[in-house]
Amino acid sequence: MKRTLAVVSAGLRLPSTTRMLADRLADGVRAELEGRGAQVGVDVVEVRDHAHDLVNHLMAGYPSPGLRRAFDAVTAADGLIVVTPTFTASYSGLFKMFFDCLEDTALVDKPVLTAATGGTGRHSLVLEHAVRPMFAYLRAVVVPTAVFAATDDWGYGSGDTQDPLARRIGRAARELADAVARREAPPLVDPHDGLIPFARLLEGGE
Ligand SMILES: Cc1cc2nc3c(=O)[nH]c(=O)nc-3n(C[C@H](O)[C@H](O)[C@H](O)COP(=O)(O)O)c2cc1C
Repeated sequence: MKRTLAVVSAGLRLPSTTRMLADRLADGVRAELEGRGAQVGVDVVEVRDHAHDLVNHLMAGYPSPGLRRAFDAVTAADGLIVVTPTFTASYSGLFKMFFDCLEDTALVDKPVLTAATGGTGRHSLVLEHAVRPMFAYLRAVVVPTAVFAATDDWGYGSGDTQDPLARRIGRAARELADAVARREAPPLVDPHDGLIPFARLLEGGE
């Protein structure tokens, strides 16, 4: 069984804590799915790489080839992980712009794990008052656990069993893997289905 995950990470700095959180979540979900016998492919979209193309798309109404590939990866994925930095108590403008430009039916019924980084844990509810409603509007299936990582959360060593962020990542990863595993594999679409044979076209047939 093959499953694909798409990861949308909207950090701006290099290195980016948003990307670090996205990678830890992707590793967690991949491990959970592999534990259930799946082969997992992961496509990561760094939104900052498409910043100029997103503005052009909003103005011109069509995506660049690179942005089209990013949209296709998100649309085709069995599960999606989205991570935004907190900017002014909400998601970042660039993160929002990516989903403004994505087709508005692309996430219907898709399992989505939401996450955010921020300077202070006092803003962790950004995931509940801003991010979750946006994905509910897009009719995605948002898993119950959303993961917020504040600056203080990065102080633990890797593998530290006391690390509260690792526990939240583990719980959210299990929830997304469960939702992806429950989802039926998308049907294989034959692009030649329904085509009229060329010989019939020559005869003027339909
Ligand atoms: C313009 C701006 C606004 C921000 N507003 C908030 C905020 O309201 N709450 C918060 O907790 N952190 C805020 N931050 C901090 C960022 O969320 C934090 O640095 C983020 O994790 C950076 O992600 P990155 O390392 O992936 O670029 C803000 C940062 C910037 C640049």
